[in-house]
Amino acid sequence: MRLHHVRQLTSHGLSSPRTVAIAAGGAEDRDATGLILSPGWLDLHAHLRDPGFPEKETLTSGAASAAFGGFTHVVAMANTMPVTDKPDRVRELVARAADLPIRVSVVAAVSIGLEGRQLTDATGMKAAGAVALSDDGRHLLAAETLGRALRAAARAGLPVLIHAQSEHLGNGPDAEATAVAEALRSLAQAPGARLHIQHVSTRAAVDLISAAKRQGFAVTAEVTPHHLALTAGDVASLGPFGNVSPPLRSIDDRAAVREALDQGVIDVIATDHAPHEIAAKAAGANGFHGFETALAVLIGLGLDPAVLYRACVQRPREIIGQSVEDEWILIDPDREWTVDSSSFKSRGKNTPFDGRRVRGRIVMTVCRGQVIVERMLQRV
Ligand code: DOR
Repeated sequence: MRLHHVRQLTSHGLSSPRTVAIAAGGAEDRDATGLILSPGWLDLHAHLRDPGFPEKETLTSGAASAAFGGFTHVVAMANTMPVTDKPDRVRELVARAADLPIRVSVVAAVSIGLEGRQLTDATGMKAAGAVALSDDGRHLLAAETLGRALRAAARAGLPVLIHAQSEHLGNGPDAEATAVAEALRSLAQAPGARLHIQHVSTRAAVDLISAAKRQGFAVTAEVTPHHLALTAGDVASLGPFGNVSPPLRSIDDRAAVREALDQGVIDVIATDHAPHEIAAKAAGANGFHGFETALAVLIGLGLDPAVLYRACVQRPREIIGQSVEDEWILIDPDREWTVDSSSFKSRGKNTPFDGRRVRGRIVMTVCRGQVIVERMLQRV
């Protein structure tokens, strides 16, 4: 398919309008005036809840939701039921993912049952197809256990993704910095290991990561669209719909994560897509739907296009050693729409952005060389 007059999102920012040919299963040529073509985005942090929680999400509903949000590749966390803590479970998920319209990579647990005690078989997980190890969803790894996990992951060639939090320390801003400092100390004892810090939310954590990077530590970090867009001040009006882990923080923390993203101290934007059924949410469950609102939230922040490319296309793939494969999204940066959770493809309607008037929409998603999403595009 040829797209005429399209601007491309690249590592240098937006190109001038041009004609671009992409592999898209013989789809007809289009006039893409005003639209932006980007390699499909990779979401490094998603909870697809499958197996075990079909009331929240399934691989099928999650993949559809991701595709409509512009993610052609998502990384599924291990806090499922059963937990992805055995190579056979990784193999089963990898096999099931092959039938989905988008690419789903699998994260295996660091510890059996996410209980923070006995380590999983890192080398076996890698051989089964896992792209990383993480106990995300629980936070029970003691420093010594994390050190051993990092060394095993280094031998297996896998990064370890950690929630900068500890169930012993709670969820306050100081706890995040304490958890990051502890994880960096464990990393220092694990030559060759790679540590990725999930959803950084505080200035103190940013400062520690920035210093560690300057010292040459193999550490990377991510931030969510909601921590870039919202603050603790929004929680009062959101009620239980404002519950998320880590919590929404202060205006100063939000400014710090934004600056860190702009400067490359934070490498990646990841949604932490955490679908919950409304009853669970009303009862206090943590987490936000992420896939279908991310693009508009990020466009609303006015991020530099080169930063978007780095954080949504390039760095997440580098961290898990994946490349772009016939994956494209076409973005209408000017299209206005109102967030209506009832129209989400996801089973998780738990968005803090419901009812918001936003700008920026996916008009086409191509994965494995096939058009899988299309929202009204003029043909030429
Ligand atoms: O708010 C959250 N919910 N943060 C997490 O890290 C886990 C997630 C979940 O699994 O619901």
